[in-house]
Amino acid sequence: MAGTRRIIIDTDPGQDDAVAIMLALASPEIDVVGITTVAGNVPLALTQKNARKVCELAGRPDIPVYAGADAPLERKLVTAEYVHGKTGLDGPDLPEPKMELQDGHAADFIVETLMAAEAGTITLCPLGPLTNIALALQKEPAIARRIREIVLMGGGFFEGGNTTPAAEFNIYVDPQAADIVFRSGIPITVMPLDVTHKVLTKAARVAAFRNIGNRVGVAVSEMLSFSERFDEAKYGTDGGPLHDPCVIAWLVRPELFKGRDCNVVIETQSELTLGMTVVDWWGVTKRPKNAHVVRDVDDDGFFALLTERLAALP
Ligand code: RIB
Ligand code: CA
Repeated sequence: MAGTRRIIIDTDPGQDDAVAIMLALASPEIDVVGITTVAGNVPLALTQKNARKVCELAGRPDIPVYAGADAPLERKLVTAEYVHGKTGLDGPDLPEPKMELQDGHAADFIVETLMAAEAGTITLCPLGPLTNIALALQKEPAIARRIREIVLMGGGFFEGGNTTPAAEFNIYVDPQAADIVFRSGIPITVMPLDVTHKVLTKAARVAAFRNIGNRVGVAVSEMLSFSERFDEAKYGTDGGPLHDPCVIAWLVRPELFKGRDCNVVIETQSELTLGMTVVDWWGVTKRPKNAHVVRDVDDDGFFALLTERLAALP
């Protein structure tokens, strides 16, 4: 399709990752070249299985799914079962996947795909810790000039952190990997907590998913009814933030979002602020603007897009 965006989704499913993957698979503007998985919300053995469960739920067992890093570059893995449940995809009772996991490491798939494709035609969409992306850049630095752009969920600035007062989970889990990515010179668009906390899975919105009338809508409503509980209790809101689908929605309807080019540096030294994304939103430094940072979203438009697109799945 003309103007189709070819993407690799790097992910740690995770209910919100699952919705992002299904939004991508339901959107004709997007061609999912492959899905690479990373340890994050839950260990790798579960994130790679969950990614395959989600592809089968969406009727797409043809999508190649790879396993990648089972731990951050330097730090010990931190997981988030307290949000996502022990399977990482608690809520619906999804069958064990029949589709095979691809052979080979996710980082090798990323490198091989980027080196084989015409330069500037592949977008990376990281939805979890950035370990696989950093490993790919270390394996083959030449990919930095071949990636069209990176659109990722991670970080926070005026909103602060969700894992420590200073750091958002994806960046906190592997700050060294995030530092490599943000220093790479690759065009980056960031969906931080400042925007994802404005797309809340309010009861009416979850009901709209359930009322789509397909198996995906029911499963998504069950996923979100489970994963939103932690954030509803923490923030006292109707619903919780639907983080990762913001990445895909931006590719499909960028006009739903507003942001600005900023300098972003990752804290990798201080234990107090480890994993903080230091975003120079007001341009008070002369540091290079290495990322487009998104802060605002039309949340009703976002959920209307999601509900419309998920209806196209089984
Ligand atoms: O902080 C939210 C992010 O961490 C989301 O990507 C969620 O899936 C977890 O990976
Ligand atoms: Ca995620």
